[in-house]
Amino acid sequence: MRMQGRRAVTRHPGFQANIRRMQPFRPKHYAIVPAAGAGSRMRSERPKQYLSLLGRPLIHHALSVLCGLPEIDKVFVVLSVDDAEWRQHDWSGLGDKLVPLFCGGATRADSVLGGLRAISDRAEQSDWILVHDAARPCIAPWHVEKLIREVSHEEVGGLLAVPVADTLKQSDERDHVIRTVPRQSLWQAQTPQMFRYVMLRRALEQAREVTDEASAIEAAGLHPKLVQSDATNLKVTYPLDLHLAEWILRNREA
Ligand code: CTP
Ligand code: MG
Repeated sequence: MRMQGRRAVTRHPGFQANIRRMQPFRPKHYAIVPAAGAGSRMRSERPKQYLSLLGRPLIHHALSVLCGLPEIDKVFVVLSVDDAEWRQHDWSGLGDKLVPLFCGGATRADSVLGGLRAISDRAEQSDWILVHDAARPCIAPWHVEKLIREVSHEEVGGLLAVPVADTLKQSDERDHVIRTVPRQSLWQAQTPQMFRYVMLRRALEQAREVTDEASAIEAAGLHPKLVQSDATNLKVTYPLDLHLAEWILRNREA
């Protein structure tokens, strides 16, 4: 990481003031796309990021959106160390923003942290990192633009999310309802999740057992901003999701 004599200050409340002092330039926006998972819940032979969606590898759709946004400076894809499939596809149409990193880890958090470490020579402490699941192919440019617009002036950072619509039940171990959980003020987290490089790296180094970046930031006592998204930015987890994603993309194209 290039320090350039600047102090690493990440903690609330002085963070924003310090960011302003050390930053006469526009912070860069780097996307990190964790794509080192096995896709076990899809029960398919190949990892879900490479399953065909509208004739392209599933991951291609999100990469294409991220690479096409002028606000995003680089798109780093974190692949598993022994990924055998990436090189079998032609990614040249996505331009020179795209950088594969073969440094995935055992968990999603490890993969993201591996990516952050791998770009430490390039990223400044105050640069924004947008972490986006490879498994969310229906991200649209306007989702990302809204996130950047609404989070750029936030002290901590933020994430796309959707207010919970269903009534929520908490169960016992035999699947009987214990209680109804009030859904008011509950949100489903999505990606991208957008945080400053140094803040995200430190948070993930200290909280490895998390399923998203925001949880790591929360564990550090901070409060990410929720930016309202919609259900089209779904995560492909089960086979049915692949059909839903195809429907969403087809209708959007139309
Ligand atoms: N991921 C990763 N490294 C891991 C695990 C997951 O980079 N060790 C990535 C996945 O490739 C995916 C994203 O994190 O893009 C979200 O994870 P998830 O939907 O859980 O994908 P998988 O872990 O691949 O699927 P499953 O949990 O069903 O095995
Ligand atoms: Mg997983």
